[in-house]
Amino acid sequence: MLRTHTCGELRKSHVGETVTLTGWVQRVRDKGGMLWIDLRDKFGLTQLVFEEGKTQEDVLKQARKAGREFVLSVTGKVSERYAKNDKLPTGDIEVVVETYSCLNESKVPPFIIEDETDGGEDLRMKYRYLDLRRNPVRKGLELRHKIMSETRSYLNEQMFMEVETPYLIKSTPEGARDFVVPSRIHHGEFYALPQSPQTFKQLLMVSGFDRYYQIVRCFRDEDFRADRQPEFSQIDCEMSFVTREDVVEIFEGLIRRLFLKTRNVDLGTFPHMSYDEAMKSYGNDRPDLRFEMKFSELNHLTQGKGFNVFDSAELVVGINATGCAEYTRKQVDALTDWVKRPQIGAKGLVYVKYNSDGTLKSSVDKFYSEEDLKAWANEFGAKPGDLMLILAGEANATRKALSELRLHMGNELGLRDKNVFKPVWIFDFPLVEWDEETKRYHAIHHPFTSPHKDDVHLLETEPGAARANAYDVVINGSEIGGGSIRIHSRDLQNKMFDLLGFSKEEAQKQFGFLLDAFEYGAPPHGGIAFGLDRLCAILGGSDSIRDFMAFPKNNSGRDLMIDTPSAIDQEQLKELGLKITS
Ligand code: AMO
Repeated sequence: MLRTHTCGELRKSHVGETVTLTGWVQRVRDKGGMLWIDLRDKFGLTQLVFEEGKTQEDVLKQARKAGREFVLSVTGKVSERYAKNDKLPTGDIEVVVETYSCLNESKVPPFIIEDETDGGEDLRMKYRYLDLRRNPVRKGLELRHKIMSETRSYLNEQMFMEVETPYLIKSTPEGARDFVVPSRIHHGEFYALPQSPQTFKQLLMVSGFDRYYQIVRCFRDEDFRADRQPEFSQIDCEMSFVTREDVVEIFEGLIRRLFLKTRNVDLGTFPHMSYDEAMKSYGNDRPDLRFEMKFSELNHLTQGKGFNVFDSAELVVGINATGCAEYTRKQVDALTDWVKRPQIGAKGLVYVKYNSDGTLKSSVDKFYSEEDLKAWANEFGAKPGDLMLILAGEANATRKALSELRLHMGNELGLRDKNVFKPVWIFDFPLVEWDEETKRYHAIHHPFTSPHKDDVHLLETEPGAARANAYDVVINGSEIGGGSIRIHSRDLQNKMFDLLGFSKEEAQKQFGFLLDAFEYGAPPHGGIAFGLDRLCAILGGSDSIRDFMAFPKNNSGRDLMIDTPSAIDQEQLKELGLKITS
């Protein structure tokens, strides 16, 4: 090595030793007679000191030329500092430099490379390699590395084997758009990048691998959100001869281990909740359980009092905001405006204040007596001092809007602490959903998901009512993983394709390889995939998965550093047999 120690290593016990350090200049302070340089590497920061009269003249002269981000190698004696810095692990010492060499110069960086930076998002993305020198950014990737290595140890211990599956494949069934890659050799033909290794992991079960996993990149051409990227990573797993309970046990163990090892948090046993219960109580199949604020339905208490909005609504439903009766007119108006925004889409908001003196005041006093409001308060379990917020309209849209309002209130009331973790398994999703636009059923999870064993008969009579043998893991309102027990019989798989509107030929063309494989002794199997980036974000206490990716895309799908997507030249297009028409 070109160094004897790292910049984070030296302590009082090293005083008197001669050491060689290498690293980047974080800061230079020149006070005339004395010159200090903070030298940084991945491991920390060490103060170097140069002193007129003591340091050799040419060394001092060279050091004075150093600027931010220059790469240095210095040799000197470790000395106890006069003014200690207890914020720094190396703050008790400094290195009195004797020999100095500049290994590389640096242009003035476009933003300050310290924990707090002056660089905007776009600039930091363009110079991501510099942003990655900053501690908070690097720490995100260190956490990711730890999660990946813990995951591998846990799954290896559980007799899983990591197998790589191909990236140049054919369309996969996860329901987003594919990224496609044109073939040069076969003009007019395309590979698709995998949205997940779903079909391959099932084939590996047919091959008898028993327990497979892979930390794998997946590609989905879908709209952007803070928790979505066009390429992201899954911890993808599959097991043979298992029931849902086996999968739940093994993977709850994995998540528990990751929280213990990276956050020292014991998650305990995860609660279970059915999809129906999640939708009814939280309006959402990924409920944030860090706070209660469950939905209460009021249809039976609100009808026939002359208030047309409630009378004509399919659903009248609300939440109780504990301790918010003191909200001012302005605050309630702000909430009303908030739910009326197009993103939320509610037509209006009805409120009932349960004043601390026990009286009730609502925005619909014209239609409802105090006695009526008392009955509502009972339904909500509200107490004096609380504020009830009620929405009405078409059931699904109203639940969705109230779910957003619930999260908004959770934020306002500080109930969504990033250091509190509430996991839950969601079971019994519907198997299929009717799509009005295409007049077809489509699979909620994917077409290989097995129906619940008690609901197979419904495939013929009432497919919309059939439950899937599928499961999601949700933590703090984020879906971090999902999977299912698969169909392993060709007959049932054919029936499923039929239900989803695939003709025999289409099914054979797209998934014939899997259907054929099912005729050669496919074992019962099931699995799950976790969103690695989302897991990192939760464990790292951030809302954005980008903070845990070395080179992420921005929110319009661009990599500003390598400047892509970008045009390719005519020659390359020709070679690929492609023509740009617009
Ligand atoms: P699913 O589509 O639910 O299941 O994906 C599994 C998990 O991957 C994460 N995820 C994403 N993370 C970041 N950006 C995205 N665009 C993105 N899309 C999904 C989520 C999600 O829970 N093959 C099945 C799994 C199985 O059945 O075993 C699958 O891919 O955290």
